[in-house]
Amino acid sequence: MKNIIGAIISFVMFVTMTACGNVPNEEMQIEISEAVNNLKKTVSESDTEWSENTEGNMNTKTLVVYFSCTGTTEPLAKYAAEILGADIYEIVPEKPYTEADLAYYTDCRADREQNDPQARPAISGSVENMDNYDTIIIGYPIWHGQAPKIIYTFLESYDFSNKTIVPFCTSHSSSIGSSADNLHLLCDDSVTWLEGKRFGGDTSKNEIQKWIDYIDLN
Ligand SMILES: Cc1cc2nc3c(=O)[nH]c(=O)nc-3n(C[C@H](O)[C@H](O)[C@H](O)COP(=O)(O)O)c2cc1C
Repeated sequence: MKNIIGAIISFVMFVTMTACGNVPNEEMQIEISEAVNNLKKTVSESDTEWSENTEGNMNTKTLVVYFSCTGTTEPLAKYAAEILGADIYEIVPEKPYTEADLAYYTDCRADREQNDPQARPAISGSVENMDNYDTIIIGYPIWHGQAPKIIYTFLESYDFSNKTIVPFCTSHSSSIGSSADNLHLLCDDSVTWLEGKRFGGDTSKNEIQKWIDYIDLN
């Protein structure tokens, strides 16, 4: 696009300068003709570049997003991304959770955040080009029966209009239960929210494959 703008500016300047003088002589006419040809070439090259980029993006329409503090959810997210050939994004807290922060039922940081409806822990970094994705698979651990509040931060940080979101979680024993319903409530009505699934810590890639086949994203 910069090339096109540069070429147009050069061309307009050239024509303006020429127009201010007398009727172009033969040498000037050749130069104008060369300028026109260069402009046409630049526009056509830029069009090719643009369509190549667009096609590249169309190959990566699913984004697997995950948050994992103790490494249980992470491998499952990676399996899903590998199976789908999807991009993957880790939600990294701006302030990392220490072991003490996660010692639940001790009034630890995680306990307090889960009890606070307003808590929205900050995320470090962001997803580039969320517009490129039409399906988001989001994985999180269950914290006191719900998604960690940082997942709320994530869902409130982007425009998911008209996208499909598929949640999954890991836990010791709790089901995905109302955690997914409460996340769904944060989303625009145009979001297609698919039923989520809970996995245990010993989940294999094969089980993730079966789940991906079941939700049938294609
Ligand atoms: C603050 C906190 C609260 C938790 N609450 C629950 C719970 O309500 N039910 C449950 O089955 N597991 C609970 N767990 C266990 C986690 O859900 C489980 O270990 C999960 O797989 C961890 O995922 P991760 O290793 O990807 O962070 C809790 C863990 C933490 C740190």
